[in-house]
Amino acid sequence: MKPKAMSKPVTDSNTHKLILGIETSCDESAAAVVRDDNCVLSNVIASQHDLHETYGGVVPEIASRAHVDAIIPVIDQALSEANVTLDDIDAIAVGNRPGLIGSLIVGISAAKALALATGKPLLGIDHVHAHLHAPHLHTESNTTSNNRPNTNLGANLGLVVSGGHTTLYLLTPNPTPNPETNTTHYQPLGRTIDDAIGEAYDKAAVILGIPYPGGPNLDQLAQAGNPKAYDLPRSMLKPGSLDFSFSGLKTALLYTVRGQPTGKDDRNKPTFARSHADLTEQDRADLAASFQAAAVDVIIKKIKRALQQLADPETTSPPVKPSAILIGGGVSANSELRRQLQQLGEQHDLTIALPPMPYCMDNAAMIAGAAHERFANDDFDDLNLPAIATTQMV
Ligand code: KG4
Ligand code: ZN
Repeated sequence: MKPKAMSKPVTDSNTHKLILGIETSCDESAAAVVRDDNCVLSNVIASQHDLHETYGGVVPEIASRAHVDAIIPVIDQALSEANVTLDDIDAIAVGNRPGLIGSLIVGISAAKALALATGKPLLGIDHVHAHLHAPHLHTESNTTSNNRPNTNLGANLGLVVSGGHTTLYLLTPNPTPNPETNTTHYQPLGRTIDDAIGEAYDKAAVILGIPYPGGPNLDQLAQAGNPKAYDLPRSMLKPGSLDFSFSGLKTALLYTVRGQPTGKDDRNKPTFARSHADLTEQDRADLAASFQAAAVDVIIKKIKRALQQLADPETTSPPVKPSAILIGGGVSANSELRRQLQQLGEQHDLTIALPPMPYCMDNAAMIAGAAHERFANDDFDDLNLPAIATTQMV
C-alpha cells in the first residue's frame, strides 16, 4: 500500500495534545491515553498470563491470537475510561520494536488502521526506550509521589530491568529549536550478555519452588530471609565492562539447592540428589534473600562503575556528570532494588526517578508518553512502519 502522507491535526495551541498508545510486544494487550504533560487519562492492560502459565513461558502463537481477540476491546476501553473519542486524539503511537514479531504485528496493524481511517499521525516507539519514560508518568490525582526530573537539558543515566532486558544507557538531549521539546538520545553503555535480570528472577523462583509470578513472589519471600546466609556469585565480567551476566548466579543457586548433578536422565537432562522440596521454609527464604542480594548488588556496582567512567577524563572526554537515573521495566518494582537505588542516589547526589508501581510492568501509557517527545517535533512515521523483533543497538 502506498503510504498516506501524515499531517499534524489542526488543534488549538492552548489545548493539551492527547496520544493513544498501543502495546502488544509480548503477552499484555494494552492501550492508554496520555496527555502531553505526562498525565495518564487511562491505562488498560489485558494480561494473558493465565494462557501461558501452564507452559512455563510465553507461547508466541498463543500470544498473537490472544492479542487479536483483545486489542479492539482494550482500545475501546482506554478511550472510554479517558472520557474521549477518537476525534479528540491527536496521534496514534504503537510499540513497534523489539518484541515477538507476531504479537507486534497485531498492535501495529491496529495502529495503522486507526491512523489510516482517521488521518491522524502514526508513531512507532521502541518498547525498551519507552520503559524509561515510565518515571515521568502520573495521574491527575497523584502528581507528587515520584521524582520527575526535567530531562530535556542535561545528561542522565537510564536503567531498564525487565523480563527481556537489562540495559544501562546514557541519556542525552537531542537539541531541537525549542529546548522544551528536546528529544532523547539513548546511548547503550552495557547490556546483559545472557539472561535478563527478570528472567533470572523467574528461573530462580522455579528453582526455589516459589509459585508464579516468580519475580514478585521471590521479592516477597526474601523479606523473611537473611541476605548473607549464602554467598552467591556476583559476576562483574571483565574490568571496566558495563555489561551484565546473570546466568552464573542462577546456576550457582541451582547447585546450592540441588547439589552437583548425579547423572543424566533419558532426555539427557542432569539429575540431582536433592530438590527444593528438601528445603526448610527458612532455607528457602534465606536463599531468596541471598539471590536477591547478589542480583541487586551487581546492578548497583555497575551503575557506580558507569558513574566513575563518565567522570574520568581518561575514559570520557569531556567528563559527564548525570543528574538523575531513570529506571524502568518490571524489576523496577523490586523492593530491594528500589531501596538500594535510593541509597545510591543519596550517596552520589543523583535524582532516582522510579516509575510509580502501575507503570513498572509492560503498559501502553509509557508508549504514548514517550511518543509526545516526537509528536512535539512533528516527527512521524508513515504506514510502512515495520515490526522489528530485535533491539537495534545504536
Ligand atoms: O517489564 P516487564 O513487564 O516485561 C518485559 O518487558 O520483560 O517485566 C516482567 C519481569 C518478570 O520477569 C517479573 O518476574 C519481573 O519483571 N518482576 C519482578 C518484580 N515484579 C516484576 N522481579 C523482581 N521483583 C519484583 N517485585
Ligand atoms: Zn517491557
